[in-house]
Amino acid sequence: MSRSPAAEAADNANAVPRHVAVVMDGNGRWARQRYMPRFFGHKQGVDALVRAVNAFADRGVQYLTVFAFSSENWKRPTEEVSGLMSLVLVAVSKYLTKLAGDGVRIRIIGDRSAVSDKLRAAWEHAEALTEKNSRITLSVAFNYGGRWDVVQACRRAIADGVKPEQFDEHFLSRQLALSFAPDPDLFIRTGGEMRMSNFLLWQAAYSELFFTECLWPDFGEAEIDAALQAYAQRDRRFGGIRALEVVPEGT
Ligand code: IPE
Ligand code: IPE
Ligand code: MG
Repeated sequence: MSRSPAAEAADNANAVPRHVAVVMDGNGRWARQRYMPRFFGHKQGVDALVRAVNAFADRGVQYLTVFAFSSENWKRPTEEVSGLMSLVLVAVSKYLTKLAGDGVRIRIIGDRSAVSDKLRAAWEHAEALTEKNSRITLSVAFNYGGRWDVVQACRRAIADGVKPEQFDEHFLSRQLALSFAPDPDLFIRTGGEMRMSNFLLWQAAYSELFFTECLWPDFGEAEIDAALQAYAQRDRRFGGIRALEVVPEGT
């Protein structure tokens, strides 16, 4: 059955998501499949991220927010945690110039209080260096948790002496770590698990969810296109009904 031009137009209205959030999961399994240490998978994961930022930007995505280290990832063995911390430093020195040149604006979201001064300084440098870039904003969630985000937002409001009647959803959204970005349209998780693991709990209220078995280091252009294609087919209703089903009054 051929579709009406109006139906095609409705589908295409959200053809490209403005904001994509990704839980980059599966690095450990990717390495294990190759009889390599987990760290090797994390290292490949960084390369996959740099490729993904450019691929998403080329397809018109304006914000990419990735989960790199969760509030709960401190539970991992000390060697893995310290390996990830040093990997971030290496990644910044290896890729910052390239990303800056590619027009990527870098932002870090999460609780910075628990990381080393050196790492904090590297992030501040990356943020300052790319501040004027506007091709795509890459937000790296590090020591981030959706629950932490809501709590830190409320704490700030309390500290500012906000009155109960001033405190509503818009107010809270403005205090959250991603206040500079629209809510994610598309939420992708690689690695086969179908859970959010405490990522962007508030902001993903109406995100379209896309889960893939693909392990993060293998997540390339073909998988990105598959995710974007799936997104373009979704009918986002936000609690309403399909635009095409709205019958004009008096008919
Ligand atoms: C995701 O990959 C990266 C981080 C959490 C830092 P994992 O390390 O969770 O990989 P799997 O899930 O064990 O394969
Ligand atoms: C989520 O992956 C966190 C990141 C990708 C950074 P995890 O591997 O930590 O999630 P769980 O433990 O399987 O839920
Ligand atoms: Mg995992």
